[in-house]
Amino acid sequence: MTDPLHTDLLALAQEAARRAGTLLRDGRPADLAVAATKSSPIDVVTEMDIAAEKLITGLIAEHRPDDGILGEEGAATEGTSGVRWVIDPLDGTVNYLYGLPTWAVSIAAEQDGETVVGVVAAPMRGETFHAVRGRGAWATGAWATGAWDGERSLACRPAPPLDHALVSTGFNYVADVRAHQADVAQRLIPLLRDIRRGGSAAVDLCDVAAGRLDGYYERGLHPWDLAAGDLIAREAGALTGGRPGERPSGDLAVAGTPGVFEPLQRLLEDFGAWHD
Ligand code: IPD
Repeated sequence: MTDPLHTDLLALAQEAARRAGTLLRDGRPADLAVAATKSSPIDVVTEMDIAAEKLITGLIAEHRPDDGILGEEGAATEGTSGVRWVIDPLDGTVNYLYGLPTWAVSIAAEQDGETVVGVVAAPMRGETFHAVRGRGAWATGAWATGAWDGERSLACRPAPPLDHALVSTGFNYVADVRAHQADVAQRLIPLLRDIRRGGSAAVDLCDVAAGRLDGYYERGLHPWDLAAGDLIAREAGALTGGRPGERPSGDLAVAGTPGVFEPLQRLLEDFGAWHD
């Protein structure tokens, strides 16, 4: 039986993701511009990232005022309940800025430091993914009709041989890290079926969960990029980790169908994927 707290957290995460996704989908100004930059001039924030975070954190504070919150756009409260929300209000900001459809609202709830609920809403793809720890991962494709029924259970693909694996990655916004990532990708390409760069870490992880990708890796991610998608991938049967023996982190995040995860992680280790 699902823990009633997790059921409540899931319902709140789904409602917050639905409202923020609708705001982002329907409220995108035609003349959307960059509002600020962060780690480098190509690491951008728009007014819509900020508006979506405000909407999500406002809803959480209204329903669960004692929870902690960590959000990409600056939300940071400690909380006293043992629950902390980890939020990327718009994962895939560059895609969103250019009008490309791969972006998502990513909301995770942690209990005593462990992620117990993850929701990733990808409105332009008409899909929302969710997982509850120990209870599996699910997708609903009903966004377009406004309904939330029609869930389907997610399971990652049976592992192909590595040279038939389709693997996604992402590139950091800092120039020397990008150059190193390009080197690593160049060495990996001949060993895989192909590499994709989708532009949203959360969607990449859900695509591993949904069996559309065999693997995913990236260096330089933040907790808000990873938290919800990592749980969804694991609950769909994928393996996730970071450097060998470690959890996914900013040094390295790797996800893969069993059979692809370990050889991919080993190659990334051989290629020094987390070194400069
Ligand atoms: C970015 C996306 C992208 C990844 C970057 C992230 P943001 O998140 O997830 O796919 O390559 O590392 O920063 O900035 O759009 O929220």
